[in-house]
Amino acid sequence: MAKSILVTGGAGYIGSHAVLQLLQGGFRTVVVDNLDNSSEVAINRVVELAGEFGKNLTFHKIDLRNKDALDKIFASTNFDAVIHFAGLKAVGESVQKPLLYYDNNIIGTITLLEIMAAHGCKKLVFSSSATVYGWPKEVPCTEEFPLFAMNPYGQTKLIIEDICRDIYRSDSDWKIILLRYFNPVGAHPSGDIGEDPRGIPNNLMPFVQQVAVGRRSALTVYGNDYSTKDGTGVRDYIHVVDLADGHIAALQKLFESNIGCEVYNLGTGKGTSVLEMVAAFEKASGKKIPLVMAGRRPGDAEIVYASTAKAEKELNWRAKYGIDEMCRDQWNWASKNPYGYASPDSTN
Ligand code: NAD
Ligand code: UFG
Repeated sequence: MAKSILVTGGAGYIGSHAVLQLLQGGFRTVVVDNLDNSSEVAINRVVELAGEFGKNLTFHKIDLRNKDALDKIFASTNFDAVIHFAGLKAVGESVQKPLLYYDNNIIGTITLLEIMAAHGCKKLVFSSSATVYGWPKEVPCTEEFPLFAMNPYGQTKLIIEDICRDIYRSDSDWKIILLRYFNPVGAHPSGDIGEDPRGIPNNLMPFVQQVAVGRRSALTVYGNDYSTKDGTGVRDYIHVVDLADGHIAALQKLFESNIGCEVYNLGTGKGTSVLEMVAAFEKASGKKIPLVMAGRRPGDAEIVYASTAKAEKELNWRAKYGIDEMCRDQWNWASKNPYGYASPDSTN
């Protein structure tokens, strides 16, 4: 019998790529998403890309905090596990609207965990973030590093990680994997699904992509006086397809071992500067990205990259793609869909 997986936030950037890989891996997949930061078009494209497996996807447009609706979904299917992507993720917005972030991310997760427990589904993969390392004193970041939230968004990730550890302590039937993502970029090689942020992008690569297609005039580089190779910030960019693969590896671990509650970094272990990333994108796209140098963005760390040893050893997973493939696939998505899933006149 094919296993059934509930995916919250499965219409979003990372979720849509993971859902496609789940379908291709033979899983039945039920997506719950309120489409707050995504489009149903992404779901339709995933169904098309999955071909004969597309029929194994069911989509429910509901908010995770709607306990009755969630309960009905669990009553109609016996889920083998849940992958929980749903959440708000804009750092700046979380500083402006902390209650929105605590309500959506924390209450949404508690509601999910309550319903899972009530239906005896106790296997979970959760989307945590490298943001929990704050401004790391050294690199690479290992899973044992001290944790620190720089903003309400990061705080929600820390709180949810703690909730998961407490739940496992209270009931050892739970099996939980917390995945700390570094910087997901790129798109599915088909160019049919990818990242489509609402409004002005906060993150580097969606901004670069919008400059390349002519939607924005120049990239503002936040700081060129860091102690790094070229003065710009260094991050661990990971291809979203590799990241999605990491979730399949985590599921296998949940099904095949007595894992308890464990945390794994998902990154490449390599640091790349802003200017290196821009150069790689220019090469992949053939487009010049005009730059405007500016001061440091408040709260930004200097250098962040992952230690990948634990995920390699215990999940038997490692990233396959480098920044050239990330930029190639991101440009393919951008050039095929310059306005993402929307039409040009419905975006800003
Ligand atoms: P995304 O915004 O594209 O996807 C999140 C999805 O969750 C969206 O489709 C949104 O509509 C949905 N959602 C939000 N709140 C919901 C709710 N209450 N009920 C139902 N659906 C809801 O973001 P993403 O980049 O795909 O990120 C997925 C997860 O990974 C998030 O939890 C995010 O915090 C985490 N993460 C992302 C990054 C990154 O840089 N993209 C890095 C680290 C961690
Ligand atoms: N940057 C610019 N210009 C921009 C945007 C970013 O120069 O317009 C620089 C930043 O200063 C940083 C680098 O590009 O040096 C990467 O910035 P991102 O905003 O793309 O990524 P961050 O590492 O700052 O943060 C992101 C998410 C966090 C998450 C973290 C790790 O926003 O929520 O990745 O997963 F926690």
